[in-house]
Amino acid sequence: MIVSGSTTQALAVRLAAETGQQLAEVSFEQFPDGERHVQVGAVTGEVVVVGSTASDGAHIELLQLQDAVREAGASEVTTVIPYMGYTRQNRAFQGGEAVSARAVARAISTGSDRVLTVNPHEDAVCDFFDVPAESIDAAGRLAEPLEELVDPLFLAPDSGALALAETVSDAYGGGTVDYFEKMRHSGTEVEIEPSDAGVGGRDVVLVDDIIATGATMSESVVVLNDREATRVFVTCVHPLLAHTAHLKLARAGVETVYGTDTLDRAVSEVSVAPAIANTL
Ligand code: R5P
Repeated sequence: MIVSGSTTQALAVRLAAETGQQLAEVSFEQFPDGERHVQVGAVTGEVVVVGSTASDGAHIELLQLQDAVREAGASEVTTVIPYMGYTRQNRAFQGGEAVSARAVARAISTGSDRVLTVNPHEDAVCDFFDVPAESIDAAGRLAEPLEELVDPLFLAPDSGALALAETVSDAYGGGTVDYFEKMRHSGTEVEIEPSDAGVGGRDVVLVDDIIATGATMSESVVVLNDREATRVFVTCVHPLLAHTAHLKLARAGVETVYGTDTLDRAVSEVSVAPAIANTL
């Protein structure tokens, strides 16, 4: 049985269709003081709880769902976290700093027998869980909406996303792969150092794990347009699109963003349900 969090309903429906499992009845309410109330209809046996944790409230809701399914009759719980928040805070840079990814992983472990997460910022985050945890690479799904491309270049905006660009290129079935260098000056400002890759007259597919503020992608698109790329496609696994990201991308000349349904956004055209179903 699939038990969906309130922000992953579209993905949970697709996952139920992929796996042939039923969707459990769930309700999400809020008390007058703002605290959340979660209730799950009767379930039995192995249950799959699906919840992305893009906000603090979503973290609480996921823990509540894990607790509720045990109350409702589950004997085994697999927690699927399509987008796991706090994974970029995965080490202490200064003394006394929280390793937030570890803190949330430990909490999630208490209500789960197994954890699956999709393209976490670093796979090593799985080591923070106290139960078996695996990351699912769903980046190849991003090749799905890409039709006939002209001499395609699959480009990572920084070296950390190079493996993702390779995965999308492989899934597309051709093209070359390259990456830019990125310097981050603040949470919302980045500087892109382009590589020598020739982009004139070519279709370029930018691939990253997350679009958060949109700074990385918009800076990259400006460089590519200056260098006369024919078309630029912006793709990411997790379309977080925080603050004014959408506007920033549009002002940089981006026409279309292809993201997945790990987060339910207007651009979540590509589904990771088949990749999750394969691993369940
Ligand atoms: C960072 O290392 C990530 O891979 C993404 O590049 C980053 O989260 C994107 O953030 P933003 O959209 O705010 O530039």
